[in-house]
Amino acid sequence: MTLSKTKRLLLGLTAVSGVATIYYENNVNRAQNSWTTNYTPSTFAKWDDNWDHRSPKFLQNTKGGKLSESDENKLNEQKEKKPRAFRHIILIRHGQYNLSGGCDSERILTKLGRLQAECTGKRLKELNLPYTEIIKSTMIRAQETGNIISDFLPKLPIENCDLLREGAPVPPEPPIGSWKPENYKFYQDGSRIEAAFRKYFHRADPDQEKDSYTILVCHANVIRYFVCRALQFPAEAWLRLSLNHASITWVSITPSGRCILRVLGDTGHMPPSYITSS
Ligand SMILES: *[C@@H]1O[C@H](CO)[C@@H](O)[C@H](O)[C@H]1NC(C)=O
Repeated sequence: MTLSKTKRLLLGLTAVSGVATIYYENNVNRAQNSWTTNYTPSTFAKWDDNWDHRSPKFLQNTKGGKLSESDENKLNEQKEKKPRAFRHIILIRHGQYNLSGGCDSERILTKLGRLQAECTGKRLKELNLPYTEIIKSTMIRAQETGNIISDFLPKLPIENCDLLREGAPVPPEPPIGSWKPENYKFYQDGSRIEAAFRKYFHRADPDQEKDSYTILVCHANVIRYFVCRALQFPAEAWLRLSLNHASITWVSITPSGRCILRVLGDTGHMPPSYITSS
C-alpha cells in the first residue's frame, strides 16, 4: 500500500508529536472532520447586510399598493445609487481621571491623564489622516481629553454630543466584575447608547464623495458596546474587552456596509509608564 503525501505527512506529525494515532488510519477528510466536530456554527455567524437599514438591496416601496411607472423608475434608480465612500470611526477613550470626584465636574483628568491625551493627540496628528470632525462626549473627562487632542488638530471642526456620555449599555455576559449597576441604569442608558450607535455607525450616504474620518472622544463602555454592535458580536460581550486610557480604537465601514475593526484600544504610542486602564 502506498500512502498519499498527506497521509505520510500526518504520519510524520503523529510520530513527532506523539498525539493519537487515529489520523493516519482514517482518510484525510475524516481526519479534518475530527478536528472540527466540537464546533457548532453560531446562530450569530451570518452577517446581517441590512444592519443599518441602508442596504440599497432592501429599499422598498413605502407607498403601499402598486407603484406608478415613474415611481417604480425612481425606486430602481435609488437602488442603483450605491455608496462609494468609507466611513472611518476613530474612537478615543478619555485619559485617566480623578476617581474621588463626587460628581462629573469633579472627575477631571489627572496629570497623567493629560499626558496620555497629549500622546494620543500627537499620534493622531502624526497619522495625518484627513479627519472630518471631532465629536466629544459632554462629560468633563472627555471634554478635557478632546480639547487636548484638538490642540494638535487645530483646524478640525468640533462638536459635542450627550448621547456619547458614559453609562451601562446592556447587562454583561458573563456577569462578572465589581461593576454592577442597578437594572434601571441598563434600561435608561442602554437605549441612549444604542441611539449613539445608530447615529454614528452606518455606511456612507450614496452622495458622500470622499472617505470620512470621524473622531469620537468618549468612554470605555460606550466604545466596547459600539465595537460589539459594529462587528455583530453579541452586545452582552462588551465587558470582555478592555481599553486603556486615551487609547485608539478604529472601525471602518465599507461602502457596502461591512464593518472592519482595524485597531482596538491601542496605546503603543505611549511610553509604558503612561499606560493605565483604570
Ligand atoms: C480628587 O478629587 C477629590 C474630590 O474632589 C479632591 O479632594 C482631590 O484633591 C482630587 N485629587 C487630585 C489629585 O486632584
